[in-house]
Amino acid sequence: MAQHYYVSLLLFFFFSTFTLITNSMSQMVPAVFVFGDSLVDVGNNNHLSLSIAKANFPHNGVDFVGKKATGRFSNGKNAADFLADKVGLPSSPPYLSIRSASNKTNAFIGGVSFASGGAGILDGTDKLFKQAIPLSKQIEYYSTVFTELVQQIGTVEAQKHFSKSLYALVIGSNDILGYFGGLGSNLHLKNTPQELTDSMALMLKGYLKQLYNLGARKFVMVGVGAIGCCPSQRNQNKTGACKEETNYWSNKFNQNVKSLLQEMKTELKDINYVLFDTYNVLLNFIQKPADYGFTEVKAACCGLGNLNANVPCLPIAQYCPKRTDHVFWDLYHPTEAAAKIFVDTIFDGSQQYVYPINLRKLIAL
Ligand SMILES: *[C@@H]1O[C@H](CO)[C@@H](O)[C@H](O)[C@H]1NC(C)=O
Ligand SMILES: *[C@@H]1O[C@H](CO)[C@@H](O)[C@H](O)[C@H]1NC(C)=O
Repeated sequence: MAQHYYVSLLLFFFFSTFTLITNSMSQMVPAVFVFGDSLVDVGNNNHLSLSIAKANFPHNGVDFVGKKATGRFSNGKNAADFLADKVGLPSSPPYLSIRSASNKTNAFIGGVSFASGGAGILDGTDKLFKQAIPLSKQIEYYSTVFTELVQQIGTVEAQKHFSKSLYALVIGSNDILGYFGGLGSNLHLKNTPQELTDSMALMLKGYLKQLYNLGARKFVMVGVGAIGCCPSQRNQNKTGACKEETNYWSNKFNQNVKSLLQEMKTELKDINYVLFDTYNVLLNFIQKPADYGFTEVKAACCGLGNLNANVPCLPIAQYCPKRTDHVFWDLYHPTEAAAKIFVDTIFDGSQQYVYPINLRKLIAL
């Protein structure tokens, strides 16, 4: 009897030590803080009662664990989930679901997501969706997390913690879609597209500096995709081709982001970043689908009407039997399969797509 007891005890220690070691070995960064829009929302908008940018109903999540509609605008995991997987952390939980928890000790330590469907860089873009958390507010929320973590682990430890953590930003599409996409914005009446993309870059730079002042040193900046090719935009072109203007200005904005990051790096020497060329990787999917395992690059998987883009992915809509061969899940968002390739490329891609270094190298710095 006693011997059995010792063996179990030994096994117990062996396995718990083993688990501890493997956990710490696979976890590559202390935390991931996520800022952005529906491309990376993991459930914040479930808590916004007025928002029309919601995905907490079927058929969203049809390929997620338990077929659960969690608020992700995807058939399965989104890019934020794959990013967390890559660095060995659980997906950063939605800020709005944990901020009122009775016991917040350690709740924020592995990262938090502030991403919200419908969010933009510019205040006002969120209004097109009735309610969303604009980037300005996401940063404000982060500053409260910053303060709490500093109180919990002390200034010196917190500084170390933040400097090794990742600050991922996936935002800008809604500002551009709001301008070109017939979402009811009147920005185009007051501004040229040049003014739009310039002010987006200017605001973004201010927000990145705020994050810097709140400890951020490693940025993962995800550029805007060729969003003129998403089903909702193709649906606005009689030929079903991509909307050139939307793509043109998305690309312009990305160039602005590239220069602003270069400027920031010369001003603030101790930052480092990855800038992902979502635009061209998405175009690759569309131009050489077979290379990536796709067969349908125009139509959404879930929706109704022309290109399944007349009606969004609501419970009354239909969805395709095979999600892995579609680039787009619904009229705006990529499938899980597409999101996975994005993140694989961010992590290990060549300089052609991740500038100036990939995420694996950023983490090693
Ligand atoms: C709750 O409190 C304990 C410390 O008393 C802590 O170890 C634990 O991780 C806390 N946080 C959460 C989110 O449960
Ligand atoms: C619609 O598609 C055609 C190609 O078929 C393209 O030349 C044209 O610029 C597109 N229209 C818009 C508004 O982008």
